[in-house]
Amino acid sequence: MKTMTRSIVALFMATSAMAQNMSYGADNFYRSNNVTIQPVSFPSQYHTNVAGNLFFLKDLNCSADCPAIVVGHPMGAVKEQSANLYATKLAEQGFVTVSIDIPFWGASEGEPRNGVSPDLYAEAFSAAVDYLGTQGFVDRERIGGLGICGSGSFVISAAKLDPRLKAIATSSMYNMGALSRNGLQHSQSVDQLKAMAAEAAQQRWTEVDGGDVQYTSGTQNHLTANSTAIQREFYDYYRTKRGEFTPVGSTPELTTHPTLSTFTKFVNFYPFSGIETISPRPMLFISGDQAHSREFSEDAYSRAGEPKELFWVPGAGHVDLYDRTELIPIQRLTDFFGTTLA
Ligand SMILES: *[C@@H]1O[C@H](CO)[C@@H](O)[C@H](O)[C@H]1NC(C)=O
Ligand SMILES: *[C@@H]1O[C@H](CO)[C@@H](O)[C@H](O)[C@H]1NC(C)=O
Ligand SMILES: *[C@@H]1O[C@H](CO)[C@@H](O)[C@H](O)[C@H]1NC(C)=O
Ligand SMILES: *[C@@H]1O[C@H](CO)[C@@H](O)[C@H](O)[C@H]1NC(C)=O
Repeated sequence: MKTMTRSIVALFMATSAMAQNMSYGADNFYRSNNVTIQPVSFPSQYHTNVAGNLFFLKDLNCSADCPAIVVGHPMGAVKEQSANLYATKLAEQGFVTVSIDIPFWGASEGEPRNGVSPDLYAEAFSAAVDYLGTQGFVDRERIGGLGICGSGSFVISAAKLDPRLKAIATSSMYNMGALSRNGLQHSQSVDQLKAMAAEAAQQRWTEVDGGDVQYTSGTQNHLTANSTAIQREFYDYYRTKRGEFTPVGSTPELTTHPTLSTFTKFVNFYPFSGIETISPRPMLFISGDQAHSREFSEDAYSRAGEPKELFWVPGAGHVDLYDRTELIPIQRLTDFFGTTLA
């Protein structure tokens, strides 16, 4: 019996090891010997707590004038996925950084769990600015924002309303509004959009009548023969040791999946409308030139005012920039924030 269990475990481990691709220095859970990490939490403007991790060099010495960066995680993820990695790498370069869980996700408050509210997601970036600016060691005039994947659109949304964010960078950005309205490369028809809204509305009836919450989209829990290349790309990160993480209070089955009845809130989310008003604050859009999401960075770049830069990582796909340390352009980010938050 024991032997059998052991061989099943071995088989499982072999299968999951085969599934993950650790090339180009994939290191999602990287910890730096040079950097202190402290769990923190702070209130949003709506009096809900936002959870984060604060990172800074162990030998940091900048009494009250440190530059700081708020870092947001991919949509469906939590701060332990990609955001902590970027925050750690930038802390090594001398920035104070804070990775945040967006509301309804991870250790941040908000019900229902895995709920969607793009306004409250953007608010979390401003709440992090409140927090950093009241710590005594951060210069209020030197705070920037960095959003990965969906958070790229949330930090832009925040920056339009909050000029305290002095410089904005995105990596592998997903415009969650455009994605929900149009699909990738405008693959979704108006009829499909209406069907999605109708399904969410029907589910709302179910919930108000006392039925169970349902979840949607996100990363497949199991691959099938029909799984698309994009589904496999996400699975390799979110469903293997490479990047999987289950926050307290969630379960592996629920991670990455927003609730079906709130997901349609993204349909009314237009983060690039008015993006030019962020100028003259600088913007940097980073994308792999092979990324299935590259249309969003191109669109944002074309609409943004000056100064702006579209930085292509040759050969990189969308998820590659979540954790592959040999592809994430930390040096470019360091120069960007070093200059713009000088
Ligand atoms: C692993 O990922 C890298 C980076 O995306 C890619 O170039 C390579 O083809 C992948 N390897 C396999 C076996 O899928
Ligand atoms: C910190 O910086 C100040 C001013 O730059 C300097 O006077 C002080 O000696 C430094 N402290 C340490 C511990 O390095
Ligand atoms: C850690 O700090 C040491 C001493 O300052 C430095 O030589 C090293 O490059 C740092 N490592 C990283 C990864 O930043
Ligand atoms: C794959 O797609 C085919 C054709 O749409 C369908 O008949 C089949 O059930 C699907 N298989 C799985 C495992 O989803």
